Amino acid sequence: MKVTKAIIPAAGLGTRVLPASKSIPKEMLPIVDKPAIQYIVEEAVQSGITDILIITNRGKSPMEDHFDRSPELEERLLASGKRDLYDQIVDVTKIANIQYVRQKETKGLGHAVWCAKSFVGDDPFAVMYGDDVIISDNPVCGQLCKVYDEFGLAVAGIKEVTEEQILKYSSLKTEPIRDNLFKITDMIEKPKKDQVLSLYSILGRCVLPAKIFSILENTKPGAGGEIQLTDAMLQLAYTEGMIGVDYIGTRYDMGNKLGILQASIEVGLKHPEIRVELRKYLKDLVKSL
Ligand code: UTP
Repeated sequence: MKVTKAIIPAAGLGTRVLPASKSIPKEMLPIVDKPAIQYIVEEAVQSGITDILIITNRGKSPMEDHFDRSPELEERLLASGKRDLYDQIVDVTKIANIQYVRQKETKGLGHAVWCAKSFVGDDPFAVMYGDDVIISDNPVCGQLCKVYDEFGLAVAGIKEVTEEQILKYSSLKTEPIRDNLFKITDMIEKPKKDQVLSLYSILGRCVLPAKIFSILENTKPGAGGEIQLTDAMLQLAYTEGMIGVDYIGTRYDMGNKLGILQASIEVGLKHPEIRVELRKYLKDLVKSL
């Protein structure tokens, strides 16, 4: 079945990027000239997604404003002949059918996903973590949807991380299927050093069947006292199987100070308006390091 729905959990408190994220959602932090969430929505649309639900929270309304019309600004841009900018800001309001729901308490990613139950209905859906921007010529959400189409099983985007990072993420036990595809046979969220299953972790994207909601309803708080999506996905992996895709793409963690800088520099180096100047600036700067 073709996946046409995606949810973007973006209700987290963003404590790792405070104080920047106190009154600006981390999902709205810019990478060159677009907020992080716009890159994610564009990836969804390029992957064949038509309906998007963003899970929000108090203080996250700038995201809704970003995908809404802005009549005064539009008029001003037209009147001053800035047609290109006008087109850009109007186009983003028509990019997809975007809806919002509030997660009333920040109880974890699993709980945020659960808030999408009535939007999803019985359909399979993509989960695109709101603070993970992934740049690729081949949209990563689409890479996963293709695998869901083929196997009809839950699919997670996976990548190898460092020994330090794995303790903060999920760790997976995998068996190779072919090429970049793996069967996921076990997983643990935020493992202790002696619990690490491998350096493979679920990073940023997955495609899940609606069955996940009945599992989430019975999922008890796990690591950090939060309802963990990993714990619910483990049940899917045990009962019907789950596929990991070592996707092609570069992921930037916008919930992390270094990730934000890496995204700005690397995307900036490809941006037609600033790439030449940025490259020159970086080359000069490197000499002084
Ligand atoms: P993170 O754990 O990276 O986000 O969740 P966080 O809680 O904002 O981060 P820190 O640790 O406080 O800095 C991954 C994704 O899940 C969303 C976040 O917005 C992020 O996009 N999330 C997390 C929710 O929507 N609700 C939650 O209760 C927790």
